[in-house]
Amino acid sequence: MPKVYLRTFGCQMNKLDSELVLGELLRAGYQPVDNEFEADVILFNTCSVREHAEERVYSHLGALKKIKKNRPEVIIGLLGCLAQKDKNKALKRVPHLDLVCGPHRYKILPELIRKIAEEHRPVIETSQSGLENDGAYFRNLEARQNSFQNYVRVMQGCNNYCSYCIVPSVRGTVRSRPLPDIAAETKMLVDNGCLEITLLGQNITAYRSEKNTLADVLKELSKINGLARLRFITSHPAYVTQELLETIRDNDKICPYLHMPAQSGSNRILKAMKRGYTAEIYLDLIRQAREIVPDLGIASDFIVGFPGETESDFEATVNLIREADFQNCFIFKYSPRPGTKAAELAETVPEAIKKERNNLLLKIQSEISARHNQKLVGKTDDVLVEGGGKNNHPGGRAGSGKQTGRTVHNQIVFFESPNDLTGQLVKVRITSATSLSLQGRLMANGREN
Ligand code: 5AD
Ligand code: SF4
Repeated sequence: MPKVYLRTFGCQMNKLDSELVLGELLRAGYQPVDNEFEADVILFNTCSVREHAEERVYSHLGALKKIKKNRPEVIIGLLGCLAQKDKNKALKRVPHLDLVCGPHRYKILPELIRKIAEEHRPVIETSQSGLENDGAYFRNLEARQNSFQNYVRVMQGCNNYCSYCIVPSVRGTVRSRPLPDIAAETKMLVDNGCLEITLLGQNITAYRSEKNTLADVLKELSKINGLARLRFITSHPAYVTQELLETIRDNDKICPYLHMPAQSGSNRILKAMKRGYTAEIYLDLIRQAREIVPDLGIASDFIVGFPGETESDFEATVNLIREADFQNCFIFKYSPRPGTKAAELAETVPEAIKKERNNLLLKIQSEISARHNQKLVGKTDDVLVEGGGKNNHPGGRAGSGKQTGRTVHNQIVFFESPNDLTGQLVKVRITSATSLSLQGRLMANGREN
């Protein structure tokens, strides 16, 4: 049996793609291994959202040269968004690469590998003509990382063309899957032990198939017996509707958590980013969302150092973050992406200032997150246990009694348990909190253990 090592970089969509790719390879007779040294086929599924992510991948690929020298028959492949973006450039940069395969061609991946093994020459496969194959995979349950927490794609691609973003060029325009397909796949996963489903789409709020919207998908999936939690990412503010918010409110299974990136608080920068809303509209939407779903946890993304971002633009972002009172935020330093509109603009913010602004936003958000988390101390929360985790004391290591899981609001919780509870929904009483996580005590039958 040929052995495959598949390593994933990047977002949840890539994690799901890796599962689907692995599913196809298992069907073709491959055996998965957890390191590159034992593998006959080494695959990196990669991200190109920022240059830093790309450089990391190239450096890991460079390190495989030794393996290829010692065992020339090993097949090394680059998959994912970086493959789609760099095509034959990747081969020029990494001469020991055998395969460059974009996200639209995974269905034929086992064939491509066979071809390389037979013909001993590299293959580049980045055509987008396989788009209609999206979601046409039959899920292979053996490829799941675990049985209790799974991803389901509802759409992919994006038509927004935000000026900084590479996604439309590497992932294509929006394709939404028919609701019956999504429902059948979800039901199959739930029937096989899944408690929590996270629905994925680069702009999931743009989902549209026949007359169905994301709200219709959520309502339909909520009916599935045995499903405990339903999540969805990522939402675009210009597409979040009252119907979606009311659907979250009216269905217990839908986690009251909205990941809705603002990207900036400056109207000038938002316009240059082509985001389609102002800071005022964004804040109004947050207000409306909290009115409809009072316990809604809202998370956001921000980019600092976009071309032309002045000190006062940055202040506007600080103000928005303070006012929005997010549960948590992801902050990124602007990275010009070739082929995007913004890459034509001269960079005006030096790296040192980007770093400073990044750190300042992190600090401000960390105080806000700590406040949100502190409010939970003394309360009991449902936690889906994800496994043995590190404790969050300095120097803490994974220990037998340590467990980690997440609340419905996606907060990380650590607690002790005499036995491993991975994959179970348990009640945990929160005893302390930091900006990043919660600590708690396991409850038995509603009482403390
Ligand atoms: N530079 C920096 N951050 C970016 N993001 C997307 N494109 C870029 C870029 N060119 C960020 C956005 C997005 C998150 C996934 O990555 O904040 O929401
Ligand atoms: Fe995911 Fe976008 Fe990175 Fe591709 S470029 S892996 S879609 S974040």
